[in-house]
Amino acid sequence: MHEEVGEVLIPAHRIADRVRELGRLLADAYTDREVVVVAIMKGCVLFLADLVRAWSEASQPRLAILDLEFVSAQSYEGTRPGEVRVTLPGGLKARLAGRPVLVVDDIFDTGRTLAAVCRHVERLGAAELKTLVMLAKRRAVPREPSIPRPDWVGFEIEDRFVIGYGLDYRGRWRNLPYVAALRGKP
Ligand code: IMP
Ligand code: MG
Repeated sequence: MHEEVGEVLIPAHRIADRVRELGRLLADAYTDREVVVVAIMKGCVLFLADLVRAWSEASQPRLAILDLEFVSAQSYEGTRPGEVRVTLPGGLKARLAGRPVLVVDDIFDTGRTLAAVCRHVERLGAAELKTLVMLAKRRAVPREPSIPRPDWVGFEIEDRFVIGYGLDYRGRWRNLPYVAALRGKP
């Protein structure tokens, strides 16, 4: 083990079980509807790949019809806390306008990232907007009242910094197949 990787909070088999359940929920929610999944990079990439496969399997004998779009979000640090800069691919408006959109992120912490991406998606004319996150933290500090809750949450976790299954600490540990605590951090 590496000194940064702490206790395993969600082992791979629990992630797999929950992803299958989420796939079933999405298959029900979007039966026979064509959806655009907007994924927030990079944190949700492992989760996303497993989720859309589970969704397709759960849709059988029908097929889930969906497209994948990728946006990225960076939080400003220091002078403008809480502001999130969202980078959108060119031509996204034409692919979202008038369509149901599901925004997927890795983790819901302050909620500002998800809220910022949702504002952009609404501005681009999505017909119906839903959100799904793999993890949501039970925060000690309450979220701002203007931040909407995600429609679906994979796991509620305690308020600590986690790594693995897409989540990084300084660019490391996204590849871990489980969610672990970062060692040495609360
Ligand atoms: P927000 O505070 O809800 O805007 O969270 C924004 C982003 O911070 C998430 O999309 C993650 O990329 C990152 N983040 C928040 N908490 C953690 C964590 O515990 N581990 C790794 N990344 C995190
Ligand atoms: Mg992220």
